[in-house]
Amino acid sequence: MSSTDSPSRLLVRDLGQAVTPAGAESPLRGADLGRVDVIEDAYVLCEAGRIAEVGRMAELGVEGEVEELDGRGLCALPGLVDCHTHACFAGDRAGEFELRARGASYEELHAAGGGILSTVEATRAAGEDGLRGAVRRHREWMLHAGTTTFEAKSGYGLDCETELTSLRAIRDEGGIPTWLGAHAVPPEFDTADAYLDFALAEVLPDAAHIAEAADVFLERGAFDRDQAKRYLEACREAGLALRLHGDQFSEQGAIPLAVELGARSVDHLEATGDDGVRVLADSDVVGVLLPVAALVLGRPMPPARALVDAGAAVALATDFNPGSAFCESLPLVTSLACTQLGLSPGEALGAVTVNAAHVLGRADRIGRLEPGYDADLVLLDAPDWRHLAYHVSGEVVSAVVRSGRLEWRR
Ligand code: NIG
Ligand code: FE
Repeated sequence: MSSTDSPSRLLVRDLGQAVTPAGAESPLRGADLGRVDVIEDAYVLCEAGRIAEVGRMAELGVEGEVEELDGRGLCALPGLVDCHTHACFAGDRAGEFELRARGASYEELHAAGGGILSTVEATRAAGEDGLRGAVRRHREWMLHAGTTTFEAKSGYGLDCETELTSLRAIRDEGGIPTWLGAHAVPPEFDTADAYLDFALAEVLPDAAHIAEAADVFLERGAFDRDQAKRYLEACREAGLALRLHGDQFSEQGAIPLAVELGARSVDHLEATGDDGVRVLADSDVVGVLLPVAALVLGRPMPPARALVDAGAAVALATDFNPGSAFCESLPLVTSLACTQLGLSPGEALGAVTVNAAHVLGRADRIGRLEPGYDADLVLLDAPDWRHLAYHVSGEVVSAVVRSGRLEWRR
């Protein structure tokens, strides 16, 4: 992008509302999570890719050359942050979707060599161009739903070449890469331990230079607690931040392990009980809730209300993937948060902005509409910011500004 393509100053004016999670801390917990600052009849001034001012139109005093964007009828929110996706995959699992609709369970399909492993086959065959194209396509879907920052995991290659190609594709197409080297045991290995020996010796040294974090699927039928611990300790040693898929179908000690290892997050938590809620609440680990996966697989929803009330830090994400959550929409996730998880619109907003940015180690730069933050804005076609969650699966996103530039408009 040449500098002439990017106006150095953009004024979004005559907005119905400009809205941001309140405060300056991260992660937001307890009552702080639901607090939002709302400015009516507002403007946002972006300069050199950052937010320069947020204020009331009555006080607007901008001088000099500036490009203007008409915000009449729109609400500005911080660009949404998707901190958990599996956006680097080829093929689809529509056939599996039908089998599940007819009664097969996700775990049965996985045990029979379908599920994740069928996506592994398609992803290995896609090649570098195919994977880059896939990430680009999925990134555009996410952008149109208001996502300006996305994390994406590898985990559908599970061989050296495809894992590294996946991580590079994610990075080069603008995502934040996480090495999900321990997602499933690929068919060429007899045991999880033999596969981990290979992954840690052959893939980790290069993966650690591309990825920011490592992730593991700690679950019956995937990796057990000791295997997850060995994998995560090696990844931490190599400089990666740690994440876990935990308590999706059963409690296997993911929360205590995440706390012990100082992980950034433990994600899913559909099976988390009262003890897990307490342990997570007393820790610095963020619980990332993925209600689309629970909805699609017919699982119980994670105990979001109990977690927030106990003082845990929670984020929300799509889990976008071809199996359990073929859904790129964070607005839909906020709708589910308000209707199924017992969260308020303000809590849901904090969970897809500030707290998601915290999971990605970027809460000082993104997730708030405040001077100094990156000028990433989502403009809602709505008179009230709560339409983000209220307009269920609707065309609520009208335009997206990224780094102070109009990136997309409906
Ligand atoms: O987060 N549970 C493990 N991984 C993904 C699903 C991956 C897939 O089914 O392809 C998840 O739900
Ligand atoms: Fe996931």
